[in-house]
Amino acid sequence: MDLFEKRVRNLGPLGMYAKQADGYFMFPKLEGEIGNKMIFRGKERLIWSLNNYLGLANHPEVRKADAEGAAKFGMAAPMGARMMSGQTVYHEQLERELAAFVNKESAYLLNFGYQGMISVIDSMVDRNDVIVYDSEAHACILDGMRLHMGKRFVYPHNNMENLRKGLERATRLTDQSGGGILVITEGVYGMSGDLGKIREIVELKKEFNFRLLIDDAHGFGTMGPTGAGTDEHFGCQDGVDLYFGTFAKSMAGIGAFIAANEPIIDFLKHNMRSQIFAKSLPMPMVIGALKRLELVRTKPELRTKLWTIVEALQKGLRNAGFNIGNTESPVTPVLLNGTIPEATNITVEMREKYNIFCSIVTYPVVPKGVIMLRLIPTADHTLENVKYTIQAFTEINAKLVAGVYANTAFADISNL
Ligand SMILES: Cc1ncc(COP(=O)(O)O)c(C=O)c1O
Repeated sequence: MDLFEKRVRNLGPLGMYAKQADGYFMFPKLEGEIGNKMIFRGKERLIWSLNNYLGLANHPEVRKADAEGAAKFGMAAPMGARMMSGQTVYHEQLERELAAFVNKESAYLLNFGYQGMISVIDSMVDRNDVIVYDSEAHACILDGMRLHMGKRFVYPHNNMENLRKGLERATRLTDQSGGGILVITEGVYGMSGDLGKIREIVELKKEFNFRLLIDDAHGFGTMGPTGAGTDEHFGCQDGVDLYFGTFAKSMAGIGAFIAANEPIIDFLKHNMRSQIFAKSLPMPMVIGALKRLELVRTKPELRTKLWTIVEALQKGLRNAGFNIGNTESPVTPVLLNGTIPEATNITVEMREKYNIFCSIVTYPVVPKGVIMLRLIPTADHTLENVKYTIQAFTEINAKLVAGVYANTAFADISNL
């Protein structure tokens, strides 16, 4: 059979909805300056979909640093991989500052969080080592695992009893093979907003010999007294051996980093394939990231503002009777009961009647019959935005519960 024919015959669980959904539910175009209000299909909407937690994307100092970085160095510099010809003092400075901020000896830049995480996992383990990981781990962790040639054990989300069992099995295996154990959790789980049980996992180090890697994509900049992450929030930074953060969220940029003790970062520098065989992070992004990190460090008021909005939104939704799960972070899921067609009709009403743009998550990401509307509050939002949104959610949910959207077809977006 022709390979292309085979592929396009089955477009996959998302691709199958492409005709009905692209441009609206999938691949929507948000235009204008990044902020709480942006343009979608020609109209201004209130945006709750961007991980621009601290509002840095459009901060004047950030825009200035980005522009100056691009004007001075261009997008091409530096050419080549770090190891070959792409090393600069700015990359090294950013790494020193990141390491100091997250309380680790050393850090190394990654061009993308996703590939970087895959490569960190790939470099850290060989066939004799065992990985024990949380069942709700992000796709980049699962894909890192795909490269792993040794054993892996998954524990149900945040289930410490099962993690302990996994560690017992892993210990038996590695005692025989001479391998080591890597435990992987997220700091903040990006869909549900709940936190990895980092403190409990660190406690287990008293009984088991393992190293802990946390993916703190959503926690870096938002969690902890200084914004240094979820392990800072729990007061257990020393127990985290490998700390991963991305620039794609609070830092409102692109790129990522891994931080650890110096010998391990030296090892990764010389062994991490995603960085050895790929071009160095472009200079404007490095210059821009230095400015972003400075603002994360020196402007705690941005984090205070973020948390004011988070608390108002989450408290308001709970008081209005909504189920927002177990979130302890800015990520705010609103869990409703309904079908996929109902979800599409709710989304259209939210966007067209109330001009509210938020992300919608359905089966298979959440169980069948559940609709998750995911709100991401940021420092750019206002208390007025919060009030307006809770009112709109209340009105729409009343209609959902009354069965107004029941038996509806997948929303028709052709005339919107
Ligand atoms: C938990 C988690 N890990 C890793 C990533 C990947 O980061 P990046 O967007 O920098 O590739 C993301 C973001 O999409 C994420 O949510």
